[in-house]
Amino acid sequence: MGKTSITVIGLGPIGQALAGAFLKGGHSTTVWNRTADKAGPLIGQGAVRADSVTEAIQAGSIVVICVLNYDAVRSVLEFAGEALAGKILINMTTGSPFQAREMAEWAAGNNIDYIDGVIMTLPPAVGTPESAIMYSGSESAYRTAQSSLASLGGLSDYLGEDPGRASAFDLALIGLFWSSMGGYLHALALAGAEQIGAGQFSKYAQKMIGTLSDLMTEVAKHVDEGHYPGDLSNLHSAVAGLENIIHTSERHQIDAGLLRAFHSLAKRAIDMGYGDEAVSRLTHVLRMPN
Ligand SMILES: NC(=O)c1ccc[n+]([C@@H]2O[C@H](COP(=O)([O-])OP(=O)(O)OC[C@H]3O[C@@H](n4cnc5c(N)ncnc54)[C@H](OP(=O)(O)O)[C@@H]3O)[C@@H](O)[C@H]2O)c1
Repeated sequence: MGKTSITVIGLGPIGQALAGAFLKGGHSTTVWNRTADKAGPLIGQGAVRADSVTEAIQAGSIVVICVLNYDAVRSVLEFAGEALAGKILINMTTGSPFQAREMAEWAAGNNIDYIDGVIMTLPPAVGTPESAIMYSGSESAYRTAQSSLASLGGLSDYLGEDPGRASAFDLALIGLFWSSMGGYLHALALAGAEQIGAGQFSKYAQKMIGTLSDLMTEVAKHVDEGHYPGDLSNLHSAVAGLENIIHTSERHQIDAGLLRAFHSLAKRAIDMGYGDEAVSRLTHVLRMPN
C-alpha cells in the first residue's frame, strides 16, 4: 500500500522543513504558500505545487498547516471547510490553548478531524532524531496519522483529546525559555560590569543551570503534593540573596527589573506567612489574585 498523501500549507522555514521531511519519508506531498515561489526548492525534491488552497487540500488525506499565526490560519482556511470535510487537519501554527480549542470547534462543525501540533524544534532539526513535536486533539486522527508523522523524526508525543493541551505545554515551556534567557542575560550584564567576560562566565552559568535542572523534579513534587518543606532553603533566605543581587546590579546601574519582579513575589509570599517554606510555594502564590 502506498504512503498517505500529505498537503503542507505554509512554507516559512518550518513549513519547508515539514514538507521536506514528508518527501524524504516517501510521501507524495503537495504544497501551497501565499507567496508561490517559496515552493521552488521543494518542487526540486519532488513536491507538487497547488495553484489554490482548495486544490492543495483536495490532494492530501492529511493536511498540515503551519503559518505565522491563527489569523493567517483563519484567512487561509476560511472558505476551505467543505474541501477539508472528512480529512485530518494538523495545525502546527503556534497559538494559545484557547485558539486551539476554538479551531477544533470550527473543525468539528465542518466534519474535519482536528489535531493541534506544537513544534519544539528549530527548522534544521525537523526530520532528524533531534526533532520534538507534541500533539493533542482527536486521538483516532492522531493514530491514523502517526506513521506519517514518524517522518518528522525524533520525539512525537500525543498528549490527549483536549486540543489545547499541546499548546498549553508549548506556551509554558516557551515562557520557561524566555524567563531563563532573561536571567542569563541579566547575569551577563552583571558579570560584565565586574569585568568578567561573557565567554568565561558562560561555562559557570551552564553549571548553575545544571543545578536548576536537578532541582526541577523536587520542585514539581512540592507543587503536585501542595507541600513545600523549607528545611534546606526557604523564602527568607531567597529574598536576602535576591536583595544582594538587586543592590549590586543597581550600583552598577544595571536594570534589575526581572529580579525585582521575582523579589516582590517572594516578599508577598512572606507577608502571607510562607517565609519558612521553600521557594516552590511561589507557584501557589502566583495563582492567587494580587
Ligand atoms: N521558525 C521556527 O524556528 C519555529 C519553531 C517552532 C514553531 N514555529 C512556529 O511555526 C509557525 C511557522 O513558523 P515559520 O518560522 O515557518 O514561519 P513564519 O515566519 O512564522 O510565518 C511565515 C509563513 O506564514 C505565512 N503567512 C503569514 N501571514 C499569512 C497570511 N495572512 N495568509 C497566508 N499565509 C500567511 C507566510 O506566507 P508568505 O511566504 O506568503 O509570507 C509563510 O508561509 C509559526 O507559528 C511559528 O511560531 C516556528
